[in-house]
Amino acid sequence: MMKSIKNKKTISESTILVTGGTGYIGSHTVVALIAAGFNPVIVDNLSNSKASVLDRIKKITGKRPPFYKLDMRNRAALNKVFQKHQIASVIHFAGLKAVGESVAEPLRYYENNIQSTITLCNVMAKHGVKKIIFSSSASVYGQASGIPIREDSAPAPTNPYARSKWIIEQILQDVYIADPGWRMVLLRYFNPVGAHESGQMGEDPRGIPNNLMPYISQVAVGRRNKINVFGNDYPTSDGTGVRDYIHVMDLAEGHIAALKKMEKKTLWKSKQNPIIINLGTGRGYTVMEIIQAFSKASGKKIPYRITKRRPGDIAACYADITLAGKLLGWKAKRSLLDMCADAWRWQSRNPQGYP
Ligand code: NAD
Ligand code: WQD
Repeated sequence: MMKSIKNKKTISESTILVTGGTGYIGSHTVVALIAAGFNPVIVDNLSNSKASVLDRIKKITGKRPPFYKLDMRNRAALNKVFQKHQIASVIHFAGLKAVGESVAEPLRYYENNIQSTITLCNVMAKHGVKKIIFSSSASVYGQASGIPIREDSAPAPTNPYARSKWIIEQILQDVYIADPGWRMVLLRYFNPVGAHESGQMGEDPRGIPNNLMPYISQVAVGRRNKINVFGNDYPTSDGTGVRDYIHVMDLAEGHIAALKKMEKKTLWKSKQNPIIINLGTGRGYTVMEIIQAFSKASGKKIPYRITKRRPGDIAACYADITLAGKLLGWKAKRSLLDMCADAWRWQSRNPQGYP
């Protein structure tokens, strides 16, 4: 009797539901989870990813995690996944993330991102699963009053996407107030870039990339002619925007650190819940520095032209990473050159992305 209870606990502690697990950050985190000995279970509606990423996960890790194609708002379908698997914790990546699109289609963004999270929390509570890591974003800070940005900087989101993240943070806070049995870690990511070092997995945006690094790598591989640099008249070292780029595998490992800490009761006795933590490197690079680093890593010339500022952009944004070190014992390890070299390995071996 004792033995079976013990076994059940061991199994349950290691099973992690990863929502949005076929997406960019989710898939890399699944690989990190398997490497750390966890058993990830993936749900995703494939609205912004492809099932073929599962083959790549298998290639890298030797394991193919269970996958359920479902929409997070489908309560009955999600419920079945919780019935089938002894889930210990959830890492909630699923969501829409394009800022410009969110301005054009705010209701779709609010409905998708917020309703998904409410449905998830309801199903989790029903099954007594109360440990969640949520993908928030540095975009909740908006134009922060000071850099490096600390977690206690007042949120001021400037678009519906960022606002959806801020609203979800507050909903989770309320869920915790109503039931302090929850353990919640809200991770505010800065600018995730790069790819798994194998070259098997990476970022595969649909259509024209919105973000700097995937755009540059498509220029390097010949899919696009040149990169537009959005403004060179900011008050930064060379006039172009400064951001805190973080290697996606460092980010993935940050989730493992958060998961392990969530298991430790001591962390949760004294601390305010939910815990909000920045995940970045703590240093910023300009757009021109990124172009130069990518050119060096790929051996390719990256043609660019300076254009006007992109509306809504800020001059500089990078994280204060003190809290991540203190609470999670985690720090990003990989350099800008690693980020560019790994992104290039992925892009050059998979010029059109996933099959
Ligand atoms: P992604 O689009 O590659 O992955 C998100 C996944 O969620 C996709 O596979 C998509 O199909 C899935 N999804 C979306 N809505 C869903 C729904 N209703 N039901 C089921 N699946 C759904 O994005 P990503 O870059 O991997 O981002 C993961 C998370 O991190 C997102 O919540 C995003 O907002 C957040 N985030 C991303 C960045 C970034 O720059 N990439 C920065 C900060 C925060
Ligand atoms: C980086 C820098 C641009 C493209 C966005 C979201 C944020 C988060 C991460 C999800 C800026 C410049 C860009 C180009 C350029 N995502 N740039 N030419 O804007 O910091 O953050 O992605 O949470 O919410 O807002 O990232 O990669 O778009 O831009 O010059 O073609 O590159 O002006 O200085 P951003 P980005």
